[in-house]
Amino acid sequence: MYNELIEKLAKDHSLTREEYLQLIRNRDKVRDRAAELACGVREHYYGNRIFIRGLIEFSNYCKNNCYYCGIRAGNRNAERYRLTGEQIISCADTGYGLGFRTFVLQGGEDPYYTDEMLTGIIRTIKQNHPDCALTLSLGERSYESYRLLKEAGADRYLLRHETANPAHYGTMHPAAMQWENRVQCLKWLKELGYQTGAGFMVGSPGQTEEDLAGEMLFLKEIDPQMVGIGPFIPHQDTPFKDKEAGTAELTTFLLSLIRLTLPGVLLPATTALGTIDPLGREKGIEAGANVLMPNLSPTDVREKYLLYDNKICTGEEAAQCLECLKQRVRKTGCEIVTDRGDYFPGANK
Ligand code: 5AD
Ligand code: FES
Repeated sequence: MYNELIEKLAKDHSLTREEYLQLIRNRDKVRDRAAELACGVREHYYGNRIFIRGLIEFSNYCKNNCYYCGIRAGNRNAERYRLTGEQIISCADTGYGLGFRTFVLQGGEDPYYTDEMLTGIIRTIKQNHPDCALTLSLGERSYESYRLLKEAGADRYLLRHETANPAHYGTMHPAAMQWENRVQCLKWLKELGYQTGAGFMVGSPGQTEEDLAGEMLFLKEIDPQMVGIGPFIPHQDTPFKDKEAGTAELTTFLLSLIRLTLPGVLLPATTALGTIDPLGREKGIEAGANVLMPNLSPTDVREKYLLYDNKICTGEEAAQCLECLKQRVRKTGCEIVTDRGDYFPGANK
């Protein structure tokens, strides 16, 4: 019966809430078939090609106070840093030399970086490397700000919704942060023509299997070009320090469900997945993921951008990670490529 459901999902790319819930509850029985079908779908659109994105974590200042996150404003133990425009541009130059054709500028919500500064940085990177895609991951901003950044040349934007359940959202964030705003931002980003990434944490405190079924329906409705998911991992200096971590087992199964629900989605095997399980990223690829996001930040700031404990790759140079990942990916039968790795238009239909 569960096998029929997974075959149905592979055929229709959609299930009811109850059907998703049945699959999630009985995942041990369908995991292997789900992964096989998910890899088949990925193969259909993208072959065995795994795209890489060079992540530049340019500021760990953040005005928000999410209960799970290590760079929350209230964490006095976090050593704060900001990269200058020149430093950010130089990270991209280094990355270009290594073969990266997508850069992701990620930071906490740091008002220090005005629209004017950011548009200048975006223009310079796009001028230096016209063949590259630029992705932003800067949290919630105004429509006007998103518009200006797009106009300056940004191509993509990552903004995880964190949970599709507004009540659950309320238990992970202070009242100043509202689920409705976040979803509004996602809709604006799509409307402005960004390739847009949504996503959620797996096994976050209070999350139920019903919530996860709801995630699938929410993703189907929003229809993002990218989806970022990773296990929740506690950080020692946060209110959630004693909460249980999410698992690689559940995360990889959800990766397969997401691939089957949104066939052409760009789907990373995340650093959090590689942190919770030493072979997590490989398992993510074997479950249907097709993106990796190694770090291009200067090594002296890496150990300061800690959203959770025990983050991997904080001591390695970008070139070392790239070599390491090439070898890891080869063992899965896939191959790292250096294209921009754009979304396959219409692929989620
Ligand atoms: N564990 C796992 N993921 C986390 N994130 C933030 N804090 C944690 C944590 N403790 C994720 C959030 C955010 C992304 C940048 O990192 O989903 O959107
Ligand atoms: Fe960074 Fe393996 S990917 S060391």
